[in-house]
Amino acid sequence: MILVTGGAGFIGANFVLDWIATEGSPVVNFDKLTYAGNPANLASLKGDSRYVFAQGDICDRKRVASLLQTHQPQAIVHFAAESHVDRSIHGPGEFVQTNVVGTFSLLEEARSYWSALPEPAKSRFRFLHVSTDEVYGSLSSSDPAFSETTPYAPNSPYAASKAASDHLVRAYHHTYGLPVITTNCSNNYGPLQFPEKLIPLMILNALNGKPLPVYGDGKNVRDWLYVGDHCAGIRAALAKGRPGETYNIGGNSEKTNLEVVHAVCAILDELRPNSLITHYLSLITYVKDRPGHDQRYAINAEKIRRELGWEPQERFEKGLRKTVEWYLSNNEWVDSVLTGDYRKWMDSNYAKR
Ligand code: NAD
Ligand code: DAU
Repeated sequence: MILVTGGAGFIGANFVLDWIATEGSPVVNFDKLTYAGNPANLASLKGDSRYVFAQGDICDRKRVASLLQTHQPQAIVHFAAESHVDRSIHGPGEFVQTNVVGTFSLLEEARSYWSALPEPAKSRFRFLHVSTDEVYGSLSSSDPAFSETTPYAPNSPYAASKAASDHLVRAYHHTYGLPVITTNCSNNYGPLQFPEKLIPLMILNALNGKPLPVYGDGKNVRDWLYVGDHCAGIRAALAKGRPGETYNIGGNSEKTNLEVVHAVCAILDELRPNSLITHYLSLITYVKDRPGHDQRYAINAEKIRRELGWEPQERFEKGLRKTVEWYLSNNEWVDSVLTGDYRKWMDSNYAKR
């Protein structure tokens, strides 16, 4: 049994599905179901006795303690977070609450549960903290990629809140001996991603004939990783990672935002031609830049390759095509997320750009 937090979100849901398909052991998914959490992501597990859903907030320590006592997990895999940089610029408070206070609450309850475990369960227990490459700040085009020893320099409220949570996780290992592992991953893409993030937003806007809003000059670089590869990296870290260590996970696939948007448009031109729009890239619209926009992220994933034998398997071109195909063939899911709240967010982030 493992306890996953935030398993109704994009990566968490992919991880739960992947875990049950590959490991086959039970999962408790503890999720608050914020705007980003969607039970439909796990609809295929309905009736599967290996899957238990518990709705709640990671800041609720009593609830966390009771879940740990009831289910006696051998590991906690901690995804739950506020995850969107633009939202952290509009309203940083929730990011501090969930990402910092929430991670602290979880660590405290995990420490208390783990301290009382008998051997060998105690030695086997792991707290795996899922974090981001954004904690390292921004690279110039000539800088080497982020390694595990790159100094932290977070630039957005989101990145700062994740950095703070990473520091707490580290401190719980060094001070209390809690067997933690932190993974710092680059930009994920794939099925089930909420369409506030670049790739699904561009796919859905294009399909609806709406502008494709590229921030600034579109030359910012991200290192794209297919979500299934991220899930495999987390499983490897859980199985073989050394407690107290951090592992960078990346796709070795740096692209400018414009390259990504062009690639999405080319796939849509082929798979869903629209007689009113000759080429989807005619919808590209340059808009006001994100404040404090990091120029480039790139991950050096040599440590996880060397120590745990993990490498990304999916090439960007193929992974992106699979992703576009998924959005094209899941209309019900798409319609269910394009709610009034989503439209409000799109208005508040894009209308005045
Ligand atoms: P997401 O926003 O899609 O999902 C977050 C999930 O956490 C949702 O299901 C939400 O309901 C839940 N949640 C939020 N606040 C909660 C709370 N207080 N208590 C319980 N549940 C809560 O996020 P994602 O993109 O799947 O990211 C998952 C994790 O991976 C995050 O920690 C993020 O920082 C990290 N990460 C994301 C990426 C990426 O590209 N998306 C890359 C690297 C790391
Ligand atoms: O690097 C890992 C991080 O990747 C994760 O920790 C975050 O949770 C995740 O959201 C992601 O952060 P980014 O800010 O890089 O992702 P986003 O999809 O928001 O933006 C990707 C790039 O595209 C970024 O340079 C901003 C740009 N962009 C984004 C949106 C939403 C646009 O040009 N237009 C847009 O409308």
